[in-house]
Formats: sequence, C-alpha cells, structure tokens
Amino acid sequence: MTDCQGNGEGSNSPMELYEKLNAQGDIVRSLKTAKAEKTEIDAAVQLLLKLKTDYKQVTGQDYKAGCPPSENVVASDNGPALDGADGEDTVDPWNVATTNAKGVDYDKLIVRFGSSKIDKELVDRVEKVSGQKPHRFLRRGIFFSHRDMHQVLDAYEKHKSFYLYTGRGPSSEAMHVGHLIPFIFTKWLQDVFDIPLVIQLTDDEKYLWKDLTLEECHRFAVENAKDIIACGFDVNKTFIFSDLDYMGASPEFYRNVVKIQKHVTFNQVKGIFGFTDSDCIGKISFPAIQAAPSFSNSFPQIFGGRKDVQCLIPCAIDQDPYFRMTRDVAPRIGYPKPALLHSTFFPALQGAQTKMSASDANSSIFLTDTPKQIKNKVNKHAFSGGKDTVEEHRKHGGNPDVDVSFMYLTFFLEDDEQLEKIRQDYASGALLTGELKKILIETLQPMIAQHQERRKLVTEEMVQQFMTPRPLNFKL
Ligand code: TRP
Repeated sequence: MTDCQGNGEGSNSPMELYEKLNAQGDIVRSLKTAKAEKTEIDAAVQLLLKLKTDYKQVTGQDYKAGCPPSENVVASDNGPALDGADGEDTVDPWNVATTNAKGVDYDKLIVRFGSSKIDKELVDRVEKVSGQKPHRFLRRGIFFSHRDMHQVLDAYEKHKSFYLYTGRGPSSEAMHVGHLIPFIFTKWLQDVFDIPLVIQLTDDEKYLWKDLTLEECHRFAVENAKDIIACGFDVNKTFIFSDLDYMGASPEFYRNVVKIQKHVTFNQVKGIFGFTDSDCIGKISFPAIQAAPSFSNSFPQIFGGRKDVQCLIPCAIDQDPYFRMTRDVAPRIGYPKPALLHSTFFPALQGAQTKMSASDANSSIFLTDTPKQIKNKVNKHAFSGGKDTVEEHRKHGGNPDVDVSFMYLTFFLEDDEQLEKIRQDYASGALLTGELKKILIETLQPMIAQHQERRKLVTEEMVQQFMTPRPLNFKL
C-alpha cells in the first residue's frame, strides 16, 4: 500500500507541494503501468487529488506538470477545486478526476448540477420528431444529461426551428478521438434536424490559460478547424469562428459580450469557476465570451438580427458551468436560455479515472496515428478488465465496466447486437482480452484512416469559407 500518512499534510511551501505532486504523479503512473491492485491505484489517485487541492489552496493556481508555481502566489479562500476532497468526483472545465475505475458517477453529477437525465422517453421522442434512428451516442447514454431538450422538441414540432452551438479550445495541433465526440454528434443533429450550426474556437481562452502565444493559439484554431471540417459539416449551414478574429469583426457579438459582463458579478464567477484573486482579469471575464454565441443576435449575418432563435448546445459535461451562468443571465438581458445536451467523458487509455490529455501521447489515440501506432497503443496501454491468466479469464470472465477497449467500442462500434455479444462473451470469459483489443484495433484503424483521407481534402480555401461570416442556408 502507498503510505498516505504524512504526505500533503502540514504546512508546505508551494515548491514543496509542487515537487510532491510530481512525485505522486510518477507513483500513480507506475502503479498503473505495473497493473497494480485497484485499491492501491485508488489510494494513490486519492492522495494525488488531495495534493492538487492543497496546491490550489496554497498557490491559487492549478497544478501543471512542468510548470512550477510562479512567485507571487496568493492564498485562495474559495473554489470548486475543493470538489474531490470529500470523495466527490472533480468535474469542472479544467479538471476531471475520480477514484472510481468505472469513471465519473454521472447520475450523481446530474443531481449536483441540477440537469435532467436523458431517459428512454426522451430518446424515443428524438426518434419520433426527427424521424431517424437515434444516434448510438443517445442509444448508449454517452449523451446522458440535458437541459430543456423537451422544450426544443415541442417547438420543433410546431415548426419553430433552432440552431446548434458547440466549440473547442485549440490548445494544440494534436487532436485525439475523444475531441471528435461532440462534433460527430453535432454533425448528426445538424443532418437530422437540418439546422444551422456555429462552432466557437476559443483561441483567446487557450492564450489566457496556457503558456502559449496568441499566434500559436490562432494557428491551432485554424488547424483544428480542418479536423472539425473533416467530420463532414455542411458548409452552407456551418459557421466556424476564432474568437480572436470574430470578436473584432462583429459589433453585435461584442455588444452581447459586454451585456453579459454587466450582468454577472465577480462573486458569481468565483462561485461557479473557482477564480481567485490571483487569476488574471482575462480569465475572469472570459465566460462572457463563451456565453455570447448562445444568443442568436451575436450572428446577424446568419439570423438577420433576430434575438429569439432558440440555441441548443451539445457539449461535454465539464462545460456546463459556462452554460449555467449563461442560462442565469439570459432572461435578465431579454434572451431565451440555451438548451443543452451533455456527454460523458472519453476515457484515457489508462483508465476512466480521468479524461484524455493531449499532452500525453500514450493516453489517447490521435487523429494522426498510423495503423501501427493504433495497434501498439491499444495493445500496450489500454487498461484491461481481463484476468491475469487465460485460465482465470476463462473461468471467471472479464469486467467490461472497467475495460477501456470495451468502453471505446461503446463509442465507435455501430452495431448494437454485436456490441452486446462482445460484452456478454467478455464477461463470461469466452472472449479474451487480446481478442477484444483486436476488435477495437480493427474498428479504430479504418475510422482514423478515413478521417485522415477526409482531412487531406480540406483546403485552405475551404477553411476560409467556413470561417467567413456570411448568410447560411436554412429556413427557420
Ligand atoms: N471551452 C471549450 C474548451 O476548452 C471550448 C468551447 C467554447 C465549447 N464554446 C463551447 C465547447 C461550446 C462546447 C460548447 O474545449
């Protein structure tokens, strides 16, 4: 067992805490690589989370490996980073962590965030209203929570349409499969409802939060736009924008940002996002910029100045704090509240305790990976719910609930019956870990290869076209 006593206790200097965090991160990684006992890994992750909480309290900053604490630290006195300290999962726009190998407890999150579960009834309604078989992400609870989706469908049935808004923070050129989840789903929504879509690339956000230059962030935005376009969006119905470009180009957008800024206090964003006295003022006002696309008059070229077009936001659940704030201000500035569809996180190869990180090449499958890299990563790094020996596995069966290869198949294997058979065979021991991994590899390889083919066809002119403010083709 890891010794939990003494570490992270007492008064630590920021630098001492930082070094303890580095060491504890190494311990967690080596335990996982060595496939240590689950209880041992859990204990080590728990200690890591506690150290992170302490670090945030002492320094007012989030711990980042490779970034020692800066000098002028101020002790913070608040912050949702305290989530996780009492055994709850940590879920905010910057941190996702849990000690449970099955991943975050999403039902608890629904209660904590006050959203609603996407139940069978809602999935059936989407099917009825759209006339299409629900996307596998809906059938399998990958999009699991919502706000006001029934209202959106009620209106749609009465021929009142809506628009979609989603986004991405371009923190690097490298995108992994997890990043595609909201886009794959949004593309499906765009097709079945035949509606316009705006995609915000928050290069400003990444500049404010990361150690990157403005030019790098803007370049990543344009590069990421290519991967997004490769998902198959209709150029006649889709506007992709970089905040750094669009904020200055659209007076209407900026007016909404300012309106939102006037109606949210520092106290509110402190409560929602855990900002502290040492966070730069850019961060403190940024949520207004992520909120603004939720209002249709931020895009006069698309909606002709109408402010009442309903917005629906598909996003991962960690983005919900932004939209809780947005829904809170909306009626106070005379706009409809955006509706939301929330997804679960895409697990890291090493296990569902955290989401994938673009900075760790082995934690995920990248959109640029070769078939060989995919095969090696899955075989070497995908956390297995199988037993140690073939004999034991045959006798007791594997655990699909913690098996990352199986989890990935729930995201990407289209055939429900095939998936269910794999689950049963794995649980009974008829299917071995190596065989399960092989199925995943053979699912991912063509999928990634096809993405790469489509991305190659995306020209600079096409990117320009998607990113130019212009009317879109749709009927409201
Ligand atoms: N903040 C998000 C990120 O870092 C990017 C984003 C902006 C977004 N607007 C959005 C995500 C709307 C989902 C929906 O990834």
